[in-house]
Amino acid sequence: MTTTTNATDLPIALTGDRPTGPLHLGHHAGSLVTRLALQDETRMFVMIADTQALTDNAGDPGRVRANVTEVLADYLAVGLDPARCTIFLQSAAPALARLSMLYMNLVTVSRLERNPTVKAEIAQKGMARDIPAGFLAYPAAQAADITAFRATLVPVGEDQLPMLEISNEIARRVNRIAGRDILPESRAMLSRTGRLPGVDGQAKASKSLGNAIALGIGADELREAVMRMYTDPGHIRVADPGKVEGNVVFAHLDAFDPDRDEVEALKAHYRRGGLGDMVLKRRLAGVLETTLAPIRERRAAAMARPDEMMDVLATGSRVAAAVAEETTRLVEDAFGIIRLD
Ligand code: TRP
Repeated sequence: MTTTTNATDLPIALTGDRPTGPLHLGHHAGSLVTRLALQDETRMFVMIADTQALTDNAGDPGRVRANVTEVLADYLAVGLDPARCTIFLQSAAPALARLSMLYMNLVTVSRLERNPTVKAEIAQKGMARDIPAGFLAYPAAQAADITAFRATLVPVGEDQLPMLEISNEIARRVNRIAGRDILPESRAMLSRTGRLPGVDGQAKASKSLGNAIALGIGADELREAVMRMYTDPGHIRVADPGKVEGNVVFAHLDAFDPDRDEVEALKAHYRRGGLGDMVLKRRLAGVLETTLAPIRERRAAAMARPDEMMDVLATGSRVAAAVAEETTRLVEDAFGIIRLD
């Protein structure tokens, strides 16, 4: 596909991930499944957000560079198909940077400081007063990512909702400046399961917290990770009634076990007492192995052919760069930027 305008009548979707580590089960439950479904229902752009990853990894750029391939392998392994979606590298669409610079003028520092996701990240990373300016401003850059593709659908986890709010505010401001609607507003597409907790019981599975199960994990490691999962610390003897809420094993069964009725029956049994953690964990290990075995295999196949992977990224990035360029010019025109060519 080489046309830059939306040649189809399909709605446009845009989403992405920071390449700071391989993707994990939280991504799978949070947005990867939604994306697979959108491949045929939308014109979807999937972005490896290397520039955004550098906003808090500039001291360790090798990490970002190395993980571009990891994330790309994860995409291909879960079934994102370059023939049905456009996978691209953020830095390879340089118009996004021009758009970001303009958008920085449409959002206030206090608005950025109030963003709950950014606030949580600042606390979690211990940035305190040493917050990189680029990091604080990344929601404005993310607005550029979304609007450059004129996306109306953004399949993401719920932690990204504050970004969409800012993106829509910026889009409305651009439209006011332009005097016409050049940018559509977008909405998030959340998954059925919502946020997956970390294996340690923390609210969110996250690579930086080290409490997530990577999609490419080996079978033995997977079993060990499940066996170590946080359950209910008050559930000491098998006969004791156990808590389902906050129990990480049940959160994973809810997200990945296809037999919903059986999961509900197990929950009732657990609450009554008489159901041991080991029984549940064995079941979950089996369910996750069924989910991850084909992904592991496709991932290894992709990683064995790095040149082919880079070709996929280069092809997608050419398409994405052209689309972003077109929208960026519209916005630049609205700002009265002079074209000397
Ligand atoms: N902020 C997202 C994350 O941390 C990655 C991202 C960058 C993104 N640009 C985006 C997601 C645009 C959706 C739309 O995973």
